[in-house]
Amino acid sequence: MFSKTSFVFLILFLIVRNNNVIHAGSPIKTIVVLVMENRSFDHMIGWMKKLNPEINGVDGSEWNPLSTTDPKSQRFFFKNQAQFVDPDPGHSFQAIREQIFGSNDTSSDHPPMNGFAQQAFSMDPSLNMSHNVMNGFEPDMVAVYKTLVSEFAVFDRWFASVPSSTQPNRLYVHSGTSAGATSNIPAKLAKGYPQRTIFENLDDAGISFGIYYQNIPATLFYRNLRKIKYWGKFHPYGTSFKKDARDGKLPGYVVVEQRYTDTKSEPGNDDHPSHDVYQGQMFVKEVYETLRASPQWNETLFVITYDEHGGFYDHVPTPVRGVPSPDGIVGPEPFLFKFDRLGVRVPTIAVSPWIEKGTVVHGPNGSPFATSEFEHSSIPATVKKLFNLSAPFLTKRDAWAGTFEGIVQTRTTPRTDCPGSCYASFGPVFYCCTVAAQLLGKTSALVYFHYLFVLTCLFLTCILEQLPTPMKIRQGEANENAKLSEFQQELMQLAAVLKGDHVLTSFPDNIGKDMTVKEGKEYMEDAVKRFFDAGLQALKMGVDVEQIVQMKPSLTTRSPKTSTKTP
Ligand SMILES: *[C@@H]1O[C@H](CO)[C@@H](O)[C@H](O)[C@H]1NC(C)=O
Ligand SMILES: *[C@@H]1O[C@H](CO)[C@@H](O)[C@H](O)[C@H]1NC(C)=O
Ligand SMILES: *[C@@H]1O[C@H](CO)[C@@H](O)[C@H](O)[C@H]1NC(C)=O
Ligand SMILES: *[C@@H]1O[C@H](CO)[C@@H](O)[C@H](O)[C@H]1NC(C)=O
Ligand SMILES: *[C@@H]1O[C@H](CO)[C@@H](O)[C@H](O)[C@H]1NC(C)=O
Repeated sequence: MFSKTSFVFLILFLIVRNNNVIHAGSPIKTIVVLVMENRSFDHMIGWMKKLNPEINGVDGSEWNPLSTTDPKSQRFFFKNQAQFVDPDPGHSFQAIREQIFGSNDTSSDHPPMNGFAQQAFSMDPSLNMSHNVMNGFEPDMVAVYKTLVSEFAVFDRWFASVPSSTQPNRLYVHSGTSAGATSNIPAKLAKGYPQRTIFENLDDAGISFGIYYQNIPATLFYRNLRKIKYWGKFHPYGTSFKKDARDGKLPGYVVVEQRYTDTKSEPGNDDHPSHDVYQGQMFVKEVYETLRASPQWNETLFVITYDEHGGFYDHVPTPVRGVPSPDGIVGPEPFLFKFDRLGVRVPTIAVSPWIEKGTVVHGPNGSPFATSEFEHSSIPATVKKLFNLSAPFLTKRDAWAGTFEGIVQTRTTPRTDCPGSCYASFGPVFYCCTVAAQLLGKTSALVYFHYLFVLTCLFLTCILEQLPTPMKIRQGEANENAKLSEFQQELMQLAAVLKGDHVLTSFPDNIGKDMTVKEGKEYMEDAVKRFFDAGLQALKMGVDVEQIVQMKPSLTTRSPKTSTKTP
């Protein structure tokens, strides 16, 4: 059967292949960035070492003690039993310090990475969380990543930019700094973070960008993106992403944002515990398949990373020396963090037909600086290289971070064997369809049915046979009546600003406090709609496009439709 299959495969290969040669240089004209939530490298990818020994992953010999000060305490060996995780392990600045150093003493040059089980124990005395954080997924449980890692490039030395929680790390992705934030600071949030972003550098260079959001664009944490002139850069993912990709109209720099809320009809797909990793896998699969089918595929680079490790164990010591502060800003009391060490290693995968199959990228090999590492600022630094942006680096951090344009510059033509290529999956299915059709088509009356059947199979193969469909992990449905998580409350604070409710006394601490996930989702989506409606009105009224729409709460203005004012 195999030889026949290969034969059919070969014929189809010859038919389908065409010889458009795209010239070397920078073939990449569209960079797509997806930042998932809260999982370490070892937790998601570590066990793939057994599939490709070149990957710096795990083999089960890694362990953490229950107490770092008691050599006889219980040992938690790293397992491959990761499942649905609820609740969320610790990832505050203090929690991460304990995970990395095993104590509050940060003087160690080579952090032992031994405090994960201990820190989890401090949050959950049942030991369940200690077991959870010392666990990773079997590759088949994260089948989409398994395929992407074997087909494209995985980075096994990419760190969170800050040893802290989500927002500071997300800010680094597009601006190379968190402007001093080591956690979410509502006062800064209301104003929006002030730093310059890669979006403005792209815009100045005449390169388009677009943000495809679901509940709420977290990129609106950047103040500058709230300017009226960027109104047209935000698109609802559901109605626009597939369409723009199909029409070949994706902008040069694309950010896809996931659903940060978890409801029955629209489950969360950001991988944030307790959301089901299955939904995250389905989302990555959908984005990949959409790009793969786009006429822009041959000029696309798709980067998937994770904001931070989410409290899950990773065995690679986080870099603590030679990391430059991006802008000299010192973090708030009590830590007065100088932004001079990185966070825990996170999974990063790069996808492009210009990447050689099975690439494993380790560190940046002393470039551009001896201590350089890959971290989130590597994204704007690489964008600058690939798009030859003349604007200076955003901060000292992206000037220091390793860049990875090299992985798309080894070939002279794009690969044609990436998952989703019609001919690649034709082979086996074509063979099976032919056999089935012959069995069905014994009589001449069925001969047309026979051909129709084969053609339909081919067609469906092209459309459906793409990345594997992962296993569902969580049993049962989303708990949409749960309280909002800390992260969701941060998004609610952003939503409050977009809606004008930040002037109310409930802001920031009581916004969303008593809401369920379902109510929070509705609030956020309404806020985003109002904000963009107001932006459109301002644009129509000819307001200076450098202005930011200042929203007033609907409760105080009380006019039914246009309850918003612009400056
Ligand atoms: C991409 O390039 C390959 C090889 O040159 C070619 O076979 C394929 O048709 C191109 N795909 C698109 C979508 O342009
Ligand atoms: C570490 O510091 C925190 C305060 O930041 C304190 O609550 C905790 O007890 C300290 N832990 C150790 C192991 O000293
Ligand atoms: C710990 O896990 C066990 C087995 O899964 C479960 O029965 C128990 O309720 C959990 N305990 C807590 C405190 O979550
Ligand atoms: C996951 O992200 C949320 C959102 O910022 C954050 O509150 C939480 O601390 C993170 N979880 C972990 C384990 O880091
Ligand atoms: C990059 O931009 C510089 C000007 O900023 C220009 O001199 C150079 O030729 C450009 N390189 C490429 C490869 O386009």
